[in-house]
Amino acid sequence: MIQLQTARRERLEETFAHVKMQLRRLIETHPDFYPMYTKYGRWKHDGEAWTHWCDGFLPGMLWIVYKREANGGNGGWWREQAIRYSKPLEPRKHDRNVHDLGFIFMSTYWRWFQFTQDTSLKAVILEAGRTLALRFKEKGEYLRSFVSDDSLFIDIMMNVGIIFHAAIELQDAQLLSVAMRHTLTSRRVLVRGDGSTAHEGLFDLETGEFLRQTTHQGYRGDSCWSRGLAWSLYGFGTCYQYTRDPRFLETAEACADFYLANTPADGVAPWDFDAPEESRKQVDTSAAAITATGLFQLARLSADPAKRILYEDAARHIVGTLCERYVSIGDADWEGILKGGVYHIHKGLGVNESVMWGEYFFVEALDKALG
Ligand code: GLY
Repeated sequence: MIQLQTARRERLEETFAHVKMQLRRLIETHPDFYPMYTKYGRWKHDGEAWTHWCDGFLPGMLWIVYKREANGGNGGWWREQAIRYSKPLEPRKHDRNVHDLGFIFMSTYWRWFQFTQDTSLKAVILEAGRTLALRFKEKGEYLRSFVSDDSLFIDIMMNVGIIFHAAIELQDAQLLSVAMRHTLTSRRVLVRGDGSTAHEGLFDLETGEFLRQTTHQGYRGDSCWSRGLAWSLYGFGTCYQYTRDPRFLETAEACADFYLANTPADGVAPWDFDAPEESRKQVDTSAAAITATGLFQLARLSADPAKRILYEDAARHIVGTLCERYVSIGDADWEGILKGGVYHIHKGLGVNESVMWGEYFFVEALDKALG
């Protein structure tokens, strides 16, 4: 038993060393470049972005590595790089073209602030929270996606946290109301009774009436796109952390239970749970990585001791599988860390590749597993 635990720990540490090597390689090979997904394992290519949402993930990983290295007194270079890649993001606190300001600023400025307590960093986060809240549609009560006014994405559940954050810091009832109403609408129209999720909901702009579930990146409007489920699991958990509203914990747990009941024994989900059998052979490791870090969070939040153990064990199991089967150790040509991610299968973007959010949430989950 002790030998098994030692071997697992060694695997996690070996993977973390690989993370550092790949990040250093990325920075040295493509300085000041913010990648999104690989093509044949290479970060730089002419593939389209679709939307511009990933720039926080590289500096976010640099902050995580800095935290671990600083504990060993060896963080200087990592801190310099984390600052170098975080600073250029500041103007995006005013970016009204994306619904992703939580991804961009909570992975970077929030981590940075925690090391320094510098109030100018906090101000950037609060401004980004205010900007995101401007997407709110009073009719329908949701934050509109980057696609159109009538569109709500499940992905926004990972971003609404920055509005809760700003609302609590600023004691702003209006911001709190926006965040609460968006979260409750997402829960009502995108999370189904069995804990599965839809990617997108469409609304009537005249009346605010919810019309139907649909998708961009999933298999079908009534299917469960695995990354959307993972965003929901982790996002509702985060909203519960901010508000302690039991409805949000219940929803996060329902999503977690759906993931665990419908995923193969290795813990890595297909890209969409309802895609045809042949297509389901394509996993999405980014969904697995997001789920793992979301499960670590739920293991701390859940009121039920049995669930705490279940979620912690499942999170460790998923991280173990990703380390064993999907990390690029031994493939010198591959520039990413985690293979087997999917960005947009219908557009043919980043399919069975490394994807930047997969890298980030995998590194976050690895950090939690290492403790
Ligand atoms: N658009 C965010 C995602 O691909 O999950």
